[in-house]
Amino acid sequence: LRSDLLASIDAAAGLDALEALRVHALGKQGAITGLLKTLGGMSPEERQEQGPRIHGLREAVTAALAERKASLERLALDARLASETLDMTLPVDGVAPGSVHPVAQVMDELAEIFADLGFAVATGPEIEDDWHNFTALNIPETHPARAMHDTFYLAGEHEKPMVLRTHTSPVQIRAMKAAGGNQPIRIIAPGRTYRSDSDATHTPMFHQVEGLVIDKGITLGHLKWTLETFLKAFFERDDIVLRLRPSYFPFTEPSAEVDVGFSVVGGKRVIGGSEGWMEVLGSGMVHRKVIEAGGYDPDQWQGFAFGCGIDRLAMLKYGMDDLRAFFDGDARWLKHYGFSA
Ligand code: PHE
Repeated sequence: LRSDLLASIDAAAGLDALEALRVHALGKQGAITGLLKTLGGMSPEERQEQGPRIHGLREAVTAALAERKASLERLALDARLASETLDMTLPVDGVAPGSVHPVAQVMDELAEIFADLGFAVATGPEIEDDWHNFTALNIPETHPARAMHDTFYLAGEHEKPMVLRTHTSPVQIRAMKAAGGNQPIRIIAPGRTYRSDSDATHTPMFHQVEGLVIDKGITLGHLKWTLETFLKAFFERDDIVLRLRPSYFPFTEPSAEVDVGFSVVGGKRVIGGSEGWMEVLGSGMVHRKVIEAGGYDPDQWQGFAFGCGIDRLAMLKYGMDDLRAFFDGDARWLKHYGFSA
């Protein structure tokens, strides 16, 4: 019995078979249990001889069962480890790589073009205080730009009234303050801006780029040359014609709205030529009061500034027609305009 049991335990193919063997030997009706029961009916002498043998058998079988169980479990674990191996070096497919958004693309292009002209990139907060967004820019309390329907005001108690900046012009003030009133400035400031407005050409969040030059002896001529050079580089055409129209901004004097000439190709308006005019940006010579608010002496320092919609630039360059699609996050739209990776 002993060698039979030990041999079949060693040969047990799996945990289930092993359990069946345990029941067969040590269960209530098991062979060894049966042998143990016979001890009671034996004479003391017989029991003294058989007792140790039967108990020895039970211990040997119990030990063999435990050993076989451990080795079967080890085998099962090895098999699982082998079958569940992940090869981290296998190539992955079906994952679409991200791509650059037209707005980010244009921001990069702007930074590059203006870097060649000696402009650094500056930034400011999107949650701006009323002073930087309006007052310092010579926009008085009564100016319509402050009306609720244009400006998002932040609810709640603030030390100063806070708004979502309605343009990137507050960065003019921040750049001047940071420069300390005694050195020239050449910056562009691209970023998000907010106005309570929504249709095919307006979204509540949009993007502008601000330009600011402060130096001694700056004139409108510098402004016009800079804008011309920028637009030629951006639209990659030499036949860019600009028209400066007198206009009004509280923070520039004089102010000019800048139109770019377009031509019509296949029913679509294309920048370049002069079949018609399209307004692309606002600009002007920085107002004395603004130069002062920035901590510069307006009798010594002059400057020009301009502000331009980045989304609009992207639409004109890449031919999109609905501004809202910019912020839908639809990969098919990106792909349609050639922006998928
Ligand atoms: N901030 C103006 C706007 O949002 C644009 C502008 C900037 C005009 C700088 C003149 C100078 O419309």
